[in-house]
Amino acid sequence: MSEQKRIPQHVAIIMDGNGRWAELRGKERCEGHAAGVEPVRASLRAAVRHGVKFLTLYAFSTENWGRPAAEVEALMELFCQSVANEAPELVRQGVRVRMIGERSRFSDKVQKALSEIESLTARGETLTLILALNYSSRSEITRAMQRIARRVAAGELRAEDIGEETVSQALDTAPYPDPDLIIRTSGEQRLSNFLLWQASYAELWFPEVLWPDFTEEEFDRAIEEYARRDRRFGLVKGK
Ligand code: IPE
Ligand code: IPE
Ligand code: MG
Repeated sequence: MSEQKRIPQHVAIIMDGNGRWAELRGKERCEGHAAGVEPVRASLRAAVRHGVKFLTLYAFSTENWGRPAAEVEALMELFCQSVANEAPELVRQGVRVRMIGERSRFSDKVQKALSEIESLTARGETLTLILALNYSSRSEITRAMQRIARRVAAGELRAEDIGEETVSQALDTAPYPDPDLIIRTSGEQRLSNFLLWQASYAELWFPEVLWPDFTEEEFDRAIEEYARRDRRFGLVKGK
């Protein structure tokens, strides 16, 4: 009898390498970002096929605002275009789009596009796609601390009653389970301020492939690798 394959409930991807992909082809970095849309579609298809319930994509970090203005502008435009173009297919697939990060820093146009895709896809039940936009873990944790401090100051919560669950529930990711598998493309082996609290026991996978070259087969490979991992959560096996 074959053992049932272990499928991660939540996969998170640090989509990295768009700039290098473009530079290797003598193109502008922005063309690398545009080429990064198809791998998003491929990842979604593969995630749905495997029965993954949550897919988080790190699309823009709080630090990414420091990039050249033209690149930031092109990324904003790409976000608006992509959410509009992809909406029908997302609805068809039963994908519900949500967001983590601080959206108030985006222009009204970007905020409107994000709100629209969230409401259009609100009834999706197959998979929740969580876009990390203007996201960084330290910023998220800092905002969570502010929320908790306000509750303590208002007398709703005693400091000694703050537990790990209180913190988890104050984060942007409160409605979602922790990621089981984090994939970062382009060979870089770091988290770059992504889901630091939530990644406590995540399995990490660092394929060399640059994000624009990421395919459904690459996603399948990550799932296969995950199935081989022995997750112990600090415990002793079989005891
Ligand atoms: C990831 O690709 C996309 C974003 C950070 C928005 P990069 O733009 O970081 O690509 P590299 O790392 O420079 O190749
Ligand atoms: C992380 O990639 C952010 C996203 C993929 C959105 P970066 O390219 O910004 O991270 P560093 O600079 O290599 O750490
Ligand atoms: Mg990068």
